[in-house]
Amino acid sequence: MKRVVILGSTGSIGTQTLDIIRLFPDKFKVVGLAASRNEKLLAVQAAEFLVDRTVLFERDGMEALVALATMPEADIVVVSVAGVIGLLPTFEAIRAGKHIALASKEVLVAAGEIVMPLLREYNVTMTPIDSEHSAIFQCLQGYRLDQISEIILTASGGPFRGKTRDELSHITVQQALNHPTWNMGGKITIDSATLMNKGLEMIEARWLFGVEMDQVKVVVHPQSVIHSMVKFKDGSVLGQLGWPNMRLPILYALTFPERHPNDLKNWDPTDTPSLTFEKPDVDAFPALNLAREAAKAGGTMPAVMNAANEAVVAAFLQRKCSFLDIPSVVDRVMQEHSAVSATLTSIVEADREARIRVHEALGI
Ligand SMILES: NC(=O)c1ccc[n+]([C@@H]2O[C@H](COP(=O)([O-])OP(=O)(O)OC[C@H]3O[C@@H](n4cnc5c(N)ncnc54)[C@H](OP(=O)(O)O)[C@@H]3O)[C@@H](O)[C@H]2O)c1
Repeated sequence: MKRVVILGSTGSIGTQTLDIIRLFPDKFKVVGLAASRNEKLLAVQAAEFLVDRTVLFERDGMEALVALATMPEADIVVVSVAGVIGLLPTFEAIRAGKHIALASKEVLVAAGEIVMPLLREYNVTMTPIDSEHSAIFQCLQGYRLDQISEIILTASGGPFRGKTRDELSHITVQQALNHPTWNMGGKITIDSATLMNKGLEMIEARWLFGVEMDQVKVVVHPQSVIHSMVKFKDGSVLGQLGWPNMRLPILYALTFPERHPNDLKNWDPTDTPSLTFEKPDVDAFPALNLAREAAKAGGTMPAVMNAANEAVVAAFLQRKCSFLDIPSVVDRVMQEHSAVSATLTSIVEADREARIRVHEALGI
């Protein structure tokens, strides 16, 4: 019986994690739940799963969230809050020796340089929930990281695949929220439309799998059946396939290294008439190059890119800027930043400043 805390239990990943736990009552016990402000759903979840430790971040604050993430009764902490706000609880949960199941890629984007050594220091396992990283993680079982030649992340291409930069200038919030294959929270759905989600995933992959940024490639694969691939040094390529459904990577992240039979719809090769691949259009979607630049600059730069993106996406969702402002404001804030080496303090400070710069740039 694994005892689980979920940070972000009321969101898309959080509720799907509870769906999985509901299927395996003899394998998991939920011991803590946290949300930001959805008190009603949090109470419903606590009642169903008989959980007496809950945190509502907007009411209880960061200290309470960290206390939940480090509670002695927990074995696994699922980090599925939207954004880098999950950094401190993740950091402290690692120091408390908890297994981390990570959905909040922003944590590794901003602070991979300090989180990865911390995992080694405390001998803690981090299993990825992101379907691409789960795929790579699965392909790598039995291999050493130094046998990797390339990580090939697949991208659905988002709702605006094939559109030119000009055609993107009048995109509305409603259009951007309409993702073709995945049903997700607002922030990640916008990130998928700008392809910043893939940029964030490139940096996440670089840290999780210990490769250089140049070794991380992106290919657009609209069917989202191949969840990602690894090319090894001998040229052999392994991929992991399945229907686009987050419940399977969530299950694997919770049960690794075991595999449990379940009722999720299985994929069969004859179900998909064709699997297609194309190169991403980096002119219409500059976020991929921004992520490469941020990773190459290193230090606090990825945290700045991430924070600027979080702030400008929030502004877009509030209809305070245009779709194309997203990459251009992130770019501008990155140009204005001189990276310094990454520590928890420098990352938090760089994050705070980047958000202020976004508000200045947008005049809000
Ligand atoms: N959705 C997917 O399919 C998917 C796939 C791969 C990776 N991810 C990653 O998973 C993370 C979550 O995505 P999502 O789509 O599940 O987002 P979401 O639907 O917006 O849910 C976010 C969750 O985090 C909670 N939350 C936000 N700030 C918090 C805080 N400070 N303390 C505690 N809880 C907080 C929210 O609570 P309230 O409900 O109270 O606001 C909600 O439960 C993101 O990093 C995303 O990139 C998501």
